[in-house]
Amino acid sequence: MKTVSAPPKTYRVKSFGCQMNVYDGERMAELLGERGIQPAPEGEEADLVILNTCHIREKAAEKVYSDIGRLVKAGEEAGKKPLIAVAGCVAQAEGEEIMARAPAVSIVVGPQAYHRLPEMLDRAANGERATDTDMPAIAKFDALPARRKRGPSAFLTVQEGCDKFCTYCVVPYTRGAEISRPFAHLITEAQKLVEAGAKEITLLGQNVNAWAGEDDKGAGVGLAGLIHALARIDGLERIRYTTSHPNDMDEALIAAHGEVAKLMPYLHLPVQAGNDRILKAMNRQHTAESYLRLLEQFRAVRPDIALSGDFIVGFPGETEAEFEDTLRIVDEVRYAHAFSFKYSPRPGTPAATMDGQIAPELMDERLQRLQARIAQHQYAFNQDSVGKSCSVLVERTGRHPGQWLGKSPWLQSVWFEGDHAIGDLVEVTLAEAGPNSLRGLVAALV
Ligand code: 5AD
Ligand code: SF4
Repeated sequence: MKTVSAPPKTYRVKSFGCQMNVYDGERMAELLGERGIQPAPEGEEADLVILNTCHIREKAAEKVYSDIGRLVKAGEEAGKKPLIAVAGCVAQAEGEEIMARAPAVSIVVGPQAYHRLPEMLDRAANGERATDTDMPAIAKFDALPARRKRGPSAFLTVQEGCDKFCTYCVVPYTRGAEISRPFAHLITEAQKLVEAGAKEITLLGQNVNAWAGEDDKGAGVGLAGLIHALARIDGLERIRYTTSHPNDMDEALIAAHGEVAKLMPYLHLPVQAGNDRILKAMNRQHTAESYLRLLEQFRAVRPDIALSGDFIVGFPGETEAEFEDTLRIVDEVRYAHAFSFKYSPRPGTPAATMDGQIAPELMDERLQRLQARIAQHQYAFNQDSVGKSCSVLVERTGRHPGQWLGKSPWLQSVWFEGDHAIGDLVEVTLAEAGPNSLRGLVAALV
């Protein structure tokens, strides 16, 4: 029998994983806001909880079930039954299982279908359970409401999905094929974000540099063309983009780093491993050498560029010597920042059934060695920045009164003192470096 329940008045969106999930979480919140559903006050149970999940690594589904259990329990203690929606990549990959295993879940909605959340809420209010894991990506963006005011740094999804099929990765299955949002829509959304107070926009895509479109004159353009156009928006001060694939890089994008002052000197370009046999088994379709040559081209146009990457240790069959090639590439590039992960077999991906799965203890050991090496280079990069003058975009208040925290052009966290406000771009001299942040002195006080 169906139970009709009152429509939710408050919501909470819990986003896990990548920045695109953060973006999707914000857009879902905007959609709910349009319906008059408000964010639940801090410390209060929400009527509607959206678990915006990530499936990229380890035990993602298990985590969803334990989160659901916790929500049900907290609801019982508070004397209410929250409406639970599971969104994101676990919803896409395991929607049916979730519905079967977790009766407390009313809605399962994939990353390309969340624009239909309001209809699904209506059905849930009627006691129906609803699953939507279709993939009409552009329709989603068309159906979303206007952007709301947020902090000075905003995300803008320009591209979604992946056609690369790296053998370890679920993204091509959960986010679908590569699609690019139209140029005009992106310019409009960027303008709206700037009107709402954004000073910095980070363009997002699983393969953001595969973005392609037609500009306002009908000419075919790549990401560089989009960046040039965005740079003409008054009030937008900084542009970033992530994540790129080495094989989608083109000359125009490299050149843009030397031409567009608003494009920040930062590049996140994952290589995943430093050994060519492993790269081949990963189906990366590039070599360590071709990756290094590409980075040289960026350094030629922008010598101070901060480089960042992603790494996987313990891919099936990885030997000690092959792992050491990863350490070697880290030393060669001298990353300013990098993310590193233990290989996690993802159901349905080719690598999950490959021979030579690596023991967890060995993966732990390799990850520790890799992270120590990355940390050394990050600290060295920060130390080399001391003495430089740069702008810092203030994102929040610091730990103590009168302290502010923001990001340098190289995406370092910088704290400093003075009479400022969130959203200010403050000129500082970098005075002292720590492993994870720097202290700045405001120019006028130097
Ligand atoms: N195991 C470990 N790390 C992974 N990544 C993607 N899939 C896996 C996996 N199965 C990492 C890659 C990618 C980042 C977003 O997550 O390094 O660049
Ligand atoms: Fe996954 Fe590879 Fe696509 Fe990146 S390029 S999303 S790692 S399949």
